[in-house]
Formats: sequence, C-alpha cells, structure tokens
Amino acid sequence: MDLPSTIAIDGPAASGKSTLGALLAKALGYLYFDTGVMYRAVTLAALQNDVDIFDEAAIGQLAEQVRIDVGPASIDDGRDYDVMLDGQDVTWLIRKDTVNDHVSDISIYARVRKAMTEQQRRIAKENKVVMVGRDIGTVVVPDADLKIYLDASVEVRAERRYQEMLERGEPADYEAVLRSLKNRDHIDSSREIAPLKPAEDAIVIQADCLGIQQVLEKAKELVYRV
Ligand code: DC
Repeated sequence: MDLPSTIAIDGPAASGKSTLGALLAKALGYLYFDTGVMYRAVTLAALQNDVDIFDEAAIGQLAEQVRIDVGPASIDDGRDYDVMLDGQDVTWLIRKDTVNDHVSDISIYARVRKAMTEQQRRIAKENKVVMVGRDIGTVVVPDADLKIYLDASVEVRAERRYQEMLERGEPADYEAVLRSLKNRDHIDSSREIAPLKPAEDAIVIQADCLGIQQVLEKAKELVYRV
C-alpha cells in the first residue's frame, strides 16, 4: 500500500496542529516541518534589527535576505527541531510574546509569502513530509496526497494555551490569551493572499471534544485509508 508522501495540516493558531504534525511525522518516519517557524523567524529578524514591522518593503527585503534553516533537534531541551536564523539558534526566541504579537502582521506581505512559499515547496519536493501551517493545502502544496484541517473553537484553544502557560509556570491571563488568539484569527483569515481556510478537498477534524491522542488516531486512519 502506498502511503501519502506529502501530508498537509492546516488550522488556526493553537488548534493543536503542531503537536499532531510532530506525532504523525514521528509515527510515519517523515520529516516534520512547521512552516509557522519561518514567519516567526522573519518577525524576530525584524525586531532584532529594528526594522519597522509595518514597513512592507523593508520587511519584504529582509525576508528575501535572511537564511532560515530548520533541522533535527541538536539539543535535548524539549524541542522538536532546531530553527537557525543566519546561524543563530532561535528555536525558543521565536516563541516569545513580541513575536506572537507581530507574526500575523508580517505574514500578510506578498514578498514575505513568496519567499517563504518557495522554500517550503522545495522542502516538500525533496522529502516525505508532514507540513503544518495555514495555507499548505490551499497554496503551498495544493497537490498534497492528504490534507487535514484541524479546527477548534477559539475559547477551547485559548483555554488549552492558558493551561500550557500555567503548567510551564509562566504568568497567564485567560482573557489576554483569548484576545490575542481572536486577533490572530482575524488577521490570518481575512488577509488577501493565502488566507487561512480549509482546502476544498481537506478533511476537517473538529477537535473541541477530542484529546490529542484521539486526534492522532483519526489522522492515522486517514493516512492508511488514502
Ligand atoms: O502556527 P504558528 O502560530 O507558529 O504561525 C505563526 C504565524 O505565521 C501565523 O499567525 C500566520 C503565519 N503563518 C502563515 O501565514 N502561513 C503558514 N503556512 C504558517 C504560518
């Protein structure tokens, strides 16, 4: 039986798609590629170099210039992969609040999307891959063998993110998490280029009442059914 060699997983922020992608890739022995890290790395590069997030031309140029490498985890500190930005290990830096707050803003720029999409297509072509993002099934690899759209209500996603922060001992405010997710959902779904939406041939998994193991089982059923 031929298994799907390119699997696209899209969905809104904090829907659990990264966790699903990592587990599925591990189960299949595929490369796991979380494309959001690329947009995050460009955002971090802008913040580190004092480039104005709202200067579209400057951010576009930056996206074309920076070198972003994603590879297997080289340190055992809970990471699933290394993210390098011009040789600097930014795996954890790209998760900080200032990046969360601006990553959707830079993701609307055409030049940024073009630069990121080209790199993602190359990686998809060269590997058996589980690729996670917002526009993987619609734009990056529309001919993916299997497309999953992982959805959950914004309240459930905010609660899960809030609990994760508490578990890590970070200061957490549910209302602030909810506001931030609503804001990102709005920007990600209403942008002109490659907005967040399920591809017509995507299979939607609604995860409000499902734990990660149940979501993984459903995804595996789809993999072995294709
Ligand atoms: O999945 P994430 O939270 O790491 O994604 C961060 C941002 O990157 C998200 O708000 C929108 C953008 N993104 C995108 O536009 N297209 C992708 N394929 C992946 C992420």
